[in-house]
Amino acid sequence: MQKTDLMEKIVSLCKRRGFIFQSSEIYGGLGSAWDYGPLGVELKRNLKNAWWKSIVHNRDDIVGLDTSILMHPNTWKASGHTENFTDILVDCRKCKKRFRQDMIGDKCPSCGARDFTDGRAFNLMLKTYLGAVEDESSVCYLRPETAQGIFVNFNNVLDTTRKKLPFGIAQIGKSFRNEITPGNFTFRTREFEQMEIEYFVRPDEAANIHERWVQDRFEWYLGLGIKKENLQLRKHADDELAHYAAACTDVEYKFPFGWSELEGIANRADFDLKQHSKVSGTELQYTDNLTNEKFFPYIIEPSGGVDRATLAFLVDAYHEEEVKGETRVVLKFSKELAPVHVAVLPLLKKNADIVELAKRIKQDLHRDFVCVYDDTASIGKLYRRQDEVGTFYCVTVDVQSLEDKQVTVRDRDTMQQERIPVDNLKKYLSEQIFN
Ligand code: GAP
Repeated sequence: MQKTDLMEKIVSLCKRRGFIFQSSEIYGGLGSAWDYGPLGVELKRNLKNAWWKSIVHNRDDIVGLDTSILMHPNTWKASGHTENFTDILVDCRKCKKRFRQDMIGDKCPSCGARDFTDGRAFNLMLKTYLGAVEDESSVCYLRPETAQGIFVNFNNVLDTTRKKLPFGIAQIGKSFRNEITPGNFTFRTREFEQMEIEYFVRPDEAANIHERWVQDRFEWYLGLGIKKENLQLRKHADDELAHYAAACTDVEYKFPFGWSELEGIANRADFDLKQHSKVSGTELQYTDNLTNEKFFPYIIEPSGGVDRATLAFLVDAYHEEEVKGETRVVLKFSKELAPVHVAVLPLLKKNADIVELAKRIKQDLHRDFVCVYDDTASIGKLYRRQDEVGTFYCVTVDVQSLEDKQVTVRDRDTMQQERIPVDNLKKYLSEQIFN
């Protein structure tokens, strides 16, 4: 399959089956803004839950936080975003189009002219005004990263949890950037979700702990089903490091449009707490309770994008195979991520007894599993539909089921079918899905 074809197929499947829609479509759409449909919202939520479970619930050294999108404007002065969070833009004097200087050569990508204006810095933060008056005193920004909400709450979390170094604070939330060149579907957008960890460590332990996080985060993607050949680590060269970073390694995924960043794991040194202490006048230091030594911890920051990861899992799960002369499309999501666990399908929708038993089974299963009932097509079509959205098992109720109280359970990946007694169905599915 051509790589561009694959991306087109994913975008089309996402729309057709309710994973992702263009935002404000009925008004012609809003560039680079996307809405998650009924299946997309389940997939994205499963991804965030898997992250939260492994980062917050399964560890003693990390706690969660949910901070506001709007923050005091001085936050961004302290963090360096007001001054440094910029792209250099140039305008083509002939066709009047605007480009990021670092993304073009000496020729205009649109009209081929070689006549550009000088580069000008363009800040990527989305600006708004709070309250009734729109002037400089009411300027506020939509946060461009969730990290700063964590740094400014350092004392609050330390005081309320009494954590000792090394410890971390994790947060999932929306961030906003006025990207000049958004694109590649949900890969680069102006509104997106991040899942970030700020892990506070003693300065002399920072390099080792950074390395450990790089490995842990790489393994996390593999554990949720990404194929190893599609994942790589890339260390930043010194001249690519952000203004705050002492070191950074990206986890990259092999998207159809090329290797691209899923997550960055940075060693931010003591930049953030020092800066916020300086600008706010509130001391954000850590006190060692044995030695009474006061110091600014270093920060290791694994920072991933929820939308990018969701897209990577969609691409990685996409399979096409020939079955009896037809193409079967199947999304082979892992059990943690699959938006639907079980579909209950009556073989004959005109047989009231079959429909009643199928609906009863669905009612019973949906307490433990994410379940759907569908009787709107022939069984062959229903199977294909469920394969295409990655449903783990199809349970089919037929005439025989009324007699022997057994149903057919079909496995998504092998397409093997097994007869299972209705009374054992829950136990059987639990063993397959949750073990
Ligand atoms: N606090 C550090 C930070 O924000 P970043 O590398 O700018 O670092 C972290 O962003 C992650 O957020 C990226 O690896 C990516 O997954 C996601 N991300 C950043 N900009 C994005 C955008 N415009 N659209 C979608 N995801 C984005």
